[in-house]
Amino acid sequence: VAAPSAVRLLAEGRPGQVLSSELELPPPFQVPLPVPPVLKPVGSDGTSDYYEITQQVAQLEILPGVRTEAWTYGGSFPGPTVATRSGRAAVIRHRNQLPVPSVVHLHGGHTPADSDGYPMDLLLPVGWDGARSIPGMPGMEHHAAGRCVTGERTNTYPGHQRAATLWYHDHRMGFTGPGVWRGLVGFHLVHDDEEAALPLPQGDRDVPLMLADRSFAADGSFAYPAADPTDPAVPGVTDDYMNGVLGDVILVNGAPWPRLDVDRARYRLRLLNASNARLYRLELDPQPSGGDALVQIGSDGGLLEAPVTHDTLELSPAERFDVVVDFSRYEPGTSVCLLNTLGTGRTAEVMRFDVSSRRVTDDATVPERLAAVERLDPDAVVATRDFTFRRSRGDGWTINGELFEPGRDLARPALGSTELWRFSSDLHHSVHVHLNHFQVLARNGDDPGPYDAGWKDTVGLRPAEAVEVLVRFTDYAGTYLLHCHNLEHEDMAMMADFVVE
Ligand code: C2O
Ligand code: CU
Repeated sequence: VAAPSAVRLLAEGRPGQVLSSELELPPPFQVPLPVPPVLKPVGSDGTSDYYEITQQVAQLEILPGVRTEAWTYGGSFPGPTVATRSGRAAVIRHRNQLPVPSVVHLHGGHTPADSDGYPMDLLLPVGWDGARSIPGMPGMEHHAAGRCVTGERTNTYPGHQRAATLWYHDHRMGFTGPGVWRGLVGFHLVHDDEEAALPLPQGDRDVPLMLADRSFAADGSFAYPAADPTDPAVPGVTDDYMNGVLGDVILVNGAPWPRLDVDRARYRLRLLNASNARLYRLELDPQPSGGDALVQIGSDGGLLEAPVTHDTLELSPAERFDVVVDFSRYEPGTSVCLLNTLGTGRTAEVMRFDVSSRRVTDDATVPERLAAVERLDPDAVVATRDFTFRRSRGDGWTINGELFEPGRDLARPALGSTELWRFSSDLHHSVHVHLNHFQVLARNGDDPGPYDAGWKDTVGLRPAEAVEVLVRFTDYAGTYLLHCHNLEHEDMAMMADFVVE
């Protein structure tokens, strides 16, 4: 049975920005920044914490005065933040009350294969009639025989990993783009003792920021150009869709161009690019005198060994950058914009921090040494593999010339071994590896770039770049994924299995 995404392939096209032109968009920096609530466990025992999340349709007010129907985790967009402790298992039961099947993946999770959210491991909606085929997914009934369940699924995340900013999102075969666009996304923060012992900003001064662009139709619904899974009559893929979908409204934690009141103190900002296809180059305006406004303390896989300072930060889809900004470097009353210098017009603005004039104390600092980070050893490499990310001839996106086909792997690393993986690209791709974090060894044969520090699970490849990473496959055997995190490229088959054995 062919992968559905390979069946629906189309045509040439340029990256498509969908316009919300018929709606009046709010002026920037009016809406207060929401921070998603932390999910409370429904139970705990000596080893594990138990959670429940219902995937449901919700009516949200994203643009002021406008009703938007979203697909949500627990009724909000972003969904609730799951906050777990390293060394304790998180057992999360998902119930699907959406009109469509879903798949949950914990991005950056060190997860056994049966809980990882393989795109064919569908969670069918409550009450789903097994005889019905799945809209827009010809042939899915056959795959559904495997690890497909109806109504509820429980995923176990053992928690054998260090503190890090992870996130969870929909990963359904061929429909990850529309599922995430409609709201199926949330933070999952792992905490540990090493991090807790550091004097980093905490509490209200530790703020997750999920950047995601969206467009809205005249009726307030999310506008997505293609592949509407609720309506099998919607024709396939448009040109706009093919190269990745961009919105014209920048949301942070689900709010359009929000603002946040900040004290003259250090803040930890956990930046996540949860956009389907948009790249950001972030910069504070004004820059504090002396520059180095953004002190990076962490990457996808948790704390760096030592902080790295930046004036600008580039975020490819799915990447996370944990930064500390010291707002005491600004005069009281300063408005500090977070800009996206890769955007144009209104997509060049992200949010604003308004620095208060009240006197506060700030005990937080950024230590010169943050964490012990093991360096993977190039001499330990037992295999070197090349993965080429390219557009195929007009009918999709490929890795090593292959469209994704579930069950066909491109690599079989041995459990416990270290490998060198070399990714090269035609256009911009955001390469993500499931199961294990990796370390960037080289970029274009040279030293790693300014955004490559630490443990990563996603790496941005600019056009015609090559990036070498070291990865060690630990703890769990089974089938995992390697794919582009431009979600439309992913849905258009730029994905491959690898099997750890
Ligand atoms: Cu963020 Cu395979 O996914
Ligand atoms: Cu791509």
